[in-house]
Amino acid sequence: MTIEIPCTPENWSRVERAIAHLRCNDLPISEYWDARSSTFGYVRISSDRVSVSGYFDSPDRANSRDWVRRLVSLFRPATPDDRYHRAFNRELLPFLQSRHSGLLGQFEAHELAKPASLTLYLGEKVPYEKVRRIIEIGGGGCLLALMLLRFYPVDKYTIVDLPAIIPLGFLVLANFLDSSRMQLPGEKIEDPKVVWLLPSNDAQQAHIDPADLFINVTSFQEMERADVSSYFDLMERRLEPGGYFLCVNRVEKQIRPGVLSRFCEYPWPRSGFEIVDETVDRFASLSGHKRPIIRRLMRKMTSAAYEIPQNG
Ligand SMILES: C[S@@+](CC[C@H](N)C(=O)[O-])C[C@H]1O[C@@H](n2cnc3c(N)ncnc32)[C@H](O)[C@@H]1O
Repeated sequence: MTIEIPCTPENWSRVERAIAHLRCNDLPISEYWDARSSTFGYVRISSDRVSVSGYFDSPDRANSRDWVRRLVSLFRPATPDDRYHRAFNRELLPFLQSRHSGLLGQFEAHELAKPASLTLYLGEKVPYEKVRRIIEIGGGGCLLALMLLRFYPVDKYTIVDLPAIIPLGFLVLANFLDSSRMQLPGEKIEDPKVVWLLPSNDAQQAHIDPADLFINVTSFQEMERADVSSYFDLMERRLEPGGYFLCVNRVEKQIRPGVLSRFCEYPWPRSGFEIVDETVDRFASLSGHKRPIIRRLMRKMTSAAYEIPQNG
């Protein structure tokens, strides 16, 4: 699981400083992410390229599998993998080719399907002019952040993530967008457009700008219950009335032996929100996993909508 990313010497210096800064943090993270974080590695392989291990698959390996798969598929009935790629080519490839052609050679279909399908989904459900401030918990490799930053007129995108993965998100975004407006932990940039924060940095999180869209994609399913609760709390506090909450997570996942994380047991708001839409994530299902991933899109009601009438 290694990928190479172009990176300027200036951005590499920033990554090195951020890694040194992030090393000083001693966050209580889930066993699962503690183990995964130890597999992450950032290596400068030339003056303008970095290799990152631990997260994305190399597109070369994916492409060669693609080629072999296509050849073999001519001689046998369609497999679930063929069906996945057909749906990808039909439903997502035109969008990726027109808006993100630079990603196609760098990332394989499975990495691109999730952010591309979610961007198209949000584009249908959430009015364009409504999305100026986004908070994402667990942005990972930041492909969704990249697509949403290009899709909506975003002024501020705040990402809360773990130390091991923040540099990867920065490298991916900095490869496509203006890195001078991105703020890594430990930096102080004037008027940043993209900001990364650490989970435990409560003081900073208390000052997170309000958001019009609050997102979590496949990371609550890997967190301890207390962490999920604290993010629901943050969502309820920081989401503007009329703002949207998109939660995309597996219906059920084991986070450690004997402990399951269940979508239906998240601390969903009891009032003041409406469910705009709930569907099973099609591409996640096409990829063949037994337990579906659910997309729930909620809207925080404006105070006028749920105020109790004085005389009635
Ligand atoms: C499976 S990845 C998903 C990344 C991305 N949302 C996606 O769908 O590709 C889970 C993400 O959650 C992050 N994460 C895990 N525990 C976290 C925590 N307590 N607070 C914030 N992020 C966390 C991980 O670092 C990682 O970026």
